[in-house]
Amino acid sequence: MGDRLAGKIALITGGGSGIGEATAQRFSAEGARVLIVDINGTNAERVATALREQGGEAGHLAADVTDPEAVQGMIQHAVKTFGRLDILHNNATAAEMGSVADLSLEGWNRTLAVNVTAPFLATKYAIPIMLDQGGGAIVNTASISGTRGDYGMAAYNAGKAAVINFTRSAAIEYASRNIRMNCVCPGAIDTPAIRALTGSGAETPHMAVAGGSVDLPKLPEEAQAKVRERMGTAHPVGRLGTPQEIANLVLFLASDEASFITGAAYIIDGGLTAHTGLPAMR
Ligand SMILES: NC(=O)c1ccc[n+]([C@@H]2O[C@H](COP(=O)([O-])OP(=O)(O)OC[C@H]3O[C@@H](n4cnc5c(N)ncnc54)[C@H](O)[C@@H]3O)[C@@H](O)[C@H]2O)c1
Repeated sequence: MGDRLAGKIALITGGGSGIGEATAQRFSAEGARVLIVDINGTNAERVATALREQGGEAGHLAADVTDPEAVQGMIQHAVKTFGRLDILHNNATAAEMGSVADLSLEGWNRTLAVNVTAPFLATKYAIPIMLDQGGGAIVNTASISGTRGDYGMAAYNAGKAAVINFTRSAAIEYASRNIRMNCVCPGAIDTPAIRALTGSGAETPHMAVAGGSVDLPKLPEEAQAKVRERMGTAHPVGRLGTPQEIANLVLFLASDEASFITGAAYIIDGGLTAHTGLPAMR
């Protein structure tokens, strides 16, 4: 337990799983009171309950961040429950995958809604509160997929690129009024989302979509292991990242230790994007 976020109130979207859950744990351990928001209300409740059992203060809310009223509602809920809002972590994601000619317009719109429009809306509604309080910190989970292309992920790539540049614009507008906004850009991280994509993990793999989730085909066990190994070794450190490693960076950016950092997009990818992609010569 530490006190790097003592007295702060934080709201985390997509806080019921993966990186959001790890960040909730980290924030709480550093003294923040946390509102966990997720479209999966059961998971949001599970995470909040665990934080309370560990001695923290936490609330939970089931909300779809693609719904503008729900986004406004979640910000109000944080203020009503805890009296203020110091940290907003826009982290929820969902994506329609497929080659460009096969992507549906609905899937494209839904992917941009959760990855770009939701952070915009949450930021829009949080800013007046943070201005009244004299400041705040916003951390958006982007991705290295917002800086490069991936096969079959054009909608996600476009959404993550957009949220990086949205963050820069919003950051410079409010920098002089003590609201800092930054992005983290992870490489492949060992979360339920990646397990779903690779078809591994115990449960039926699924992908969250607005209003629920869709089942994905499960790969044969041998293929699962191969995909995970290939994803891991693509990173020069030789493995996937952990949600806790991303949470450590989110914590730093959300804390007062990062007081001179705004409008930045931090790559955290085990060296993946430092590499040209060419094989070793010897
Ligand atoms: N896992 C990775 O390899 C990786 C890499 C780079 C970036 N990221 C980013 O990290 C963030 C977290 O990803 P993760 O891997 O922990 O995923 P995850 O699937 O484990 O968690 C995402 C959470 O978002 C929630 N969610 C989805 N749609 C929602 C909606 N409309 N409203 C509210 N909640 C919704 C899901 O229910 C889920 O709990 C995402 O922004 C993702 O794009 C992940």
